[in-house]
Amino acid sequence: MKIIFSIEELRDQLRGQLRTAFVPTMGNLHEGHLSLIRLAKKHGDPVVASIFVNRLQFGPNEDFDKYPRTLQADIDKLEKEGVYVLFAPTEKDLYPEPQEYRVNPPDDLGNTLEGEFRPGFFTGVTTVVLKLFSCVQPKVAVFGKKDYQQLMIIRNMSKQFALPTEIIAAETWRAEDGLALSSRNSFLSASERAEAPALYQVLNEAAQEVRNGNTNLIEIEKRAMEKLAQRHWNPDYISIRRRADLQSPNATDLQQHTELVVLAAAKIGGTRLIDNLEI
Ligand code: PAJ
Repeated sequence: MKIIFSIEELRDQLRGQLRTAFVPTMGNLHEGHLSLIRLAKKHGDPVVASIFVNRLQFGPNEDFDKYPRTLQADIDKLEKEGVYVLFAPTEKDLYPEPQEYRVNPPDDLGNTLEGEFRPGFFTGVTTVVLKLFSCVQPKVAVFGKKDYQQLMIIRNMSKQFALPTEIIAAETWRAEDGLALSSRNSFLSASERAEAPALYQVLNEAAQEVRNGNTNLIEIEKRAMEKLAQRHWNPDYISIRRRADLQSPNATDLQQHTELVVLAAAKIGGTRLIDNLEI
């Protein structure tokens, strides 16, 4: 595997490649990330991964400084998966001057759910992803459903800018007890880790209520939030949305069985976890 830091070297290495499959990450790789690499392999060749902890998408009081950085272990994992190039730019490489041009997702997608609790987050994500796409020029790029809203926003960005990159969705990879794998899980204490699968359980219960025909979504959401609060979580939101545009379903949607997804974000101790489940 070639490990490349500069944009120039990356362009040299990938010149003439027309079927590149790309998996952008912030590192601290786990099985979830590796499942994206395996899916990428089925959709293109060569496979390029990136590791870059993107300051633009962290708020001033968020965990940019303590975000886990484990480059050597990550390199070993990617090497085993047969990745062709790892692009691991430093901040100077990717942002040699302040990144003043930014991509702003539309309000209805970018300022709801995660965007409401993390102002500017999706602008940081879309800006870096557009820049990474511009560096790698991939034919396809793989994103996880674990970050459902991110996947949707990137898919729409790619469509609206007519980018030549097809966005492919990978299923959420979970531990045996249901907890979605996440780099932030390493911040959990042993007792928090034991409690953490409750988030997925609560999502499953809410989804089941919808499947059983309960159309009072507000009540379902409220009950789910209360369940978490009783277990000493601090929930930001649990929300049932349309899969297609992440807006709240109306009466017609419920009658016509429009496809839905339930999304959640909640803090356990000092760690904020997100998860979702297609209904
Ligand atoms: P990161 O959190 O490292 O995630 C990289 C990719 O792995 C994302 O597409 C994410 O959805 C996916 N992923 C993470 N955990 C997963 C799991 N348990 N199952 C399946 N996929 C999972 O998301 C980012 O980085 C950044 O925002 C990035 C897109 C790289 C831009 O900086």
